[in-house]
Amino acid sequence: MPDIEKEIHGAVFTFFSTASAVGKTLLSCNMASELARQRKRVCLVDFDLQFGDVCNYLQLLPQRTLADVQQAMLMQGEACHVEEYLTPYEYGGVVFYVLAAPKKLEEAYNIQSDYAIRAIRQLQTKFDYVIVDTTSMFSVLNLALLDLSTIVTFLGIVDFIPTIKNMKIGSDTLNDLNYDKHKIRMVLNRSNAKTRIGIDDVEKLLGEPFYHILPNDFRAASQSIKEGIPLVLKTERTDLGEALRDLVARYTNQGYEESDEGMDEYVGESWLSRIFG
Ligand SMILES: Nc1ncnc2c1ncn2[C@@H]1O[C@H](COP(=O)(O)OP(=O)(O)O)[C@@H](O)[C@H]1O
Ligand SMILES: [Mg+2]
Repeated sequence: MPDIEKEIHGAVFTFFSTASAVGKTLLSCNMASELARQRKRVCLVDFDLQFGDVCNYLQLLPQRTLADVQQAMLMQGEACHVEEYLTPYEYGGVVFYVLAAPKKLEEAYNIQSDYAIRAIRQLQTKFDYVIVDTTSMFSVLNLALLDLSTIVTFLGIVDFIPTIKNMKIGSDTLNDLNYDKHKIRMVLNRSNAKTRIGIDDVEKLLGEPFYHILPNDFRAASQSIKEGIPLVLKTERTDLGEALRDLVARYTNQGYEESDEGMDEYVGESWLSRIFG
C-alpha cells in the first residue's frame, strides 16, 4: 500500500472510445503495469461499470469494489478511505492497485457519478497515476471523467465504416468540448489488421494525425489475457509490447519532444470525408 501520509496530486490518464472492443482495457492494464514497473504508485480504476474486464484481464478476485466505496461514502462521508477498497496486482516484483467495477449489474446501475468522481479525486491524493478504463459512450460519468483527466486517450480501430463514423462523431464532440489540444490523444490500435480503409484517409476525415499507432498482434494480445500478465511485464518481447511502452514514455515525456509539424497536411479532402462530409 502506498505511503498514505503524504498527499500528492496524481495525474489521471483515461482511456475512451466510441466503439467497444478497440483495446481500452488492454491499453489501461499495460499503461498501469509499465508505470508501476517504473516504480510509480499506480491505481487502475475500472469504470466500465456494467461489463468491466480489468479483473478478468489481470486474473484478480476483488473482495471490494466501487459499489462498496459508494456505500461507505454514503454511510461515513469524509471518513471513507478509498485506498481500503483496492485489490493489489503483483507480478515479478511489480505492484499496482485496482479499484474494481461492481460485481453485480444492479450495483453498477446504482453507481452515481458524483461518488465515482469523488473516488478518483481521493485516489489522486495517494497515487502518482490514476489510470481509468471506461465504456464507449458520452455518459454523465464519462464527461465528468474527461473533464478531470490529465490525458485522454481517444482510442480507435479502422475496421468498418460504422466504427469510423462513430470515431468522427467522437473526435468532433471532443473538439467541441474545447479541451487543451495536448490533453486529447488520438491513438490507433490494431493498425495492420486486414482492412481496405487507408489510415491516411481516416486521418484526413478526422482532421488530425494519430498521435500513436499500435500494431495488430492477436496472438500476443490473447495470450497475455489468457495468462493474466500484461505484455509490458512479460520477458518475451513483442512489437505490441514495445509500442505500448513507447506510448507510456511519450505520456510521461521521457525523451520525446511533441511537435505540431505535419498537422496541416491532414486537413484535406478524402473519399471518407465525401461520404460523411
Ligand atoms: N493491438 C492488438 N492486437 C490484437 N488484438 C488486440 C489488440 N488490442 C486489443 N486486442 C484484442 O481486442 C479485444 C478487445 O480488447 P479490449 O481491450 O477488451 O477492448 P475494449 O476494452 O475497448 O472493449 C481483446 O480480445 C484483445 O485481446
Ligand atoms: Mg474494456
